[in-house]
Amino acid sequence: MRTRIRELTVFGLWAGGVMACAALLLPGVSLAADDAAAEALAKKSKCMTCHSVDKKKDGPSFKETAAKYKGKADAEQKVFVHLTTNPKVKVDGKEEAHEGPKTKNEAEIKNLVAWILSR
Ligand code: HEC
Repeated sequence: MRTRIRELTVFGLWAGGVMACAALLLPGVSLAADDAAAEALAKKSKCMTCHSVDKKKDGPSFKETAAKYKGKADAEQKVFVHLTTNPKVKVDGKEEAHEGPKTKNEAEIKNLVAWILSR
């Protein structure tokens, strides 16, 4: 019985250590992009009716956009402006205003931009 308790304690310390390490690593991960939040916002904003991560639809795939801006210093700025100023785009040969994300929260939009550019 005594040894069993000791084993459990050792395991507890080990598991605690692993979790502490994960907690230390997580802030670095979220700096890149919160993928789940970005995808949820893209779905909620109906972006995926005209875009896909890897297939061309009415709009370019997000992979295509990421490739277009790869290595460009102003990439985030350009895409941010595209998503917040409703520029005119051609859909089925007709001009219409490009819809932005359904949020006014700048951090959420920037996260979406980072997600698109890291596809
Ligand atoms: C009605 C269809 C439609 C919807 C909805 C739509 N887009 Fe687009 N999007 C387009 C088209 C068409 C283009 C191509 C514009 C061009 O190249 O002139 C485009 C271009 C883009 C680009 C590339 C911009 C660039 O600078 O190359 C990004 C990024 C983008 N859209 C993201 C989004 C996001 C995020 C949403 C949701 C908030 C969204 N789009 C919703 C049709 C749409």
